[in-house]
Amino acid sequence: QTALIHRFNGISFTVRSSPDLLKSLDTVDAREDDILLVSYPKSGTHWLAEIIRHIYNCKVTLTSPIEFGDISRVKELNNLSSKRIIPTHLDYNMLPSNFKVKQCKTFYIIRNPKDVAVSMYHYYKDNPNLPTIDSWTVFLELFLKGDVVCGSWFDHFLSWEEHKNDRNILFLFYEDMKKDLPKVVKKMSIFLEINISDSETEEICEKSSFTEMKSNVEKENSDSNHTVCALTSNRKLIFRKGAVGDWKNYFTPKQNKMFAEMFNKKMELILVLTHIQN
Ligand code: PPS
Repeated sequence: QTALIHRFNGISFTVRSSPDLLKSLDTVDAREDDILLVSYPKSGTHWLAEIIRHIYNCKVTLTSPIEFGDISRVKELNNLSSKRIIPTHLDYNMLPSNFKVKQCKTFYIIRNPKDVAVSMYHYYKDNPNLPTIDSWTVFLELFLKGDVVCGSWFDHFLSWEEHKNDRNILFLFYEDMKKDLPKVVKKMSIFLEINISDSETEEICEKSSFTEMKSNVEKENSDSNHTVCALTSNRKLIFRKGAVGDWKNYFTPKQNKMFAEMFNKKMELILVLTHIQN
């Protein structure tokens, strides 16, 4: 069990992110044209990656998360040709400083943390690379304590939220993508400074739909075999339901209340910070 997970900087990582790599991330070169795709796990990373790939007509190198692998990963990343699309689940404080200095274009995707918790629960249940979880109730407690891979959702979000007005960072919501994908795709292309027509936008939306992505993985279509996820090599586990509000099928009223209390307590920090900065 414990051999599957280790702690670094107080945060849990799977053994697939070696301590040596985590220590050496600052030696990864950063390029001005790199694109970072930042998320807490289960927030829509693969979806976003697929859209970006199609905005660039697939002429980009999509890597697995920067923190995934052993020490040889540094060399591998440094040798990759541009343009690199680099996902990461790291919080802001752990992001290698080179990327901050170069002000790489960065997407941060947010999803309702209650849906994230449910998605992550299933991921734990079905994934042999993660510790066994006895029940949803047990998992939710761990999630609220931040005792899951990649640490606390709240701390992750808060670390990035402080940078939401940085010129090189674009915040996106999973829920907005579900509601009006063409609008979000347009917004993304403007941020990337790439012109796409209405029909191209439509095509990108079709190619990155849940059904299309799921069926590509099931067919093991090599063009779409881009493993973004650091936590498993089984991409089939990624495309579960792709819905908004699945949390309602899991949270009891008591758990919902507990979550809301935690949420309000943590998010008060934002108000305090805004107050101090203003
Ligand atoms: S990971 O493993 O952390 O990188 O996972 P991540 O890709 O961030 O999130 C997985 C969830 O995103 C859903 N997903 C999608 N939803 C809508 N449309 C598309 N195209 C799409 N692709 C992936 C995926 O189903 C996971 O959510 P759940 O709720 O578990 O279904």
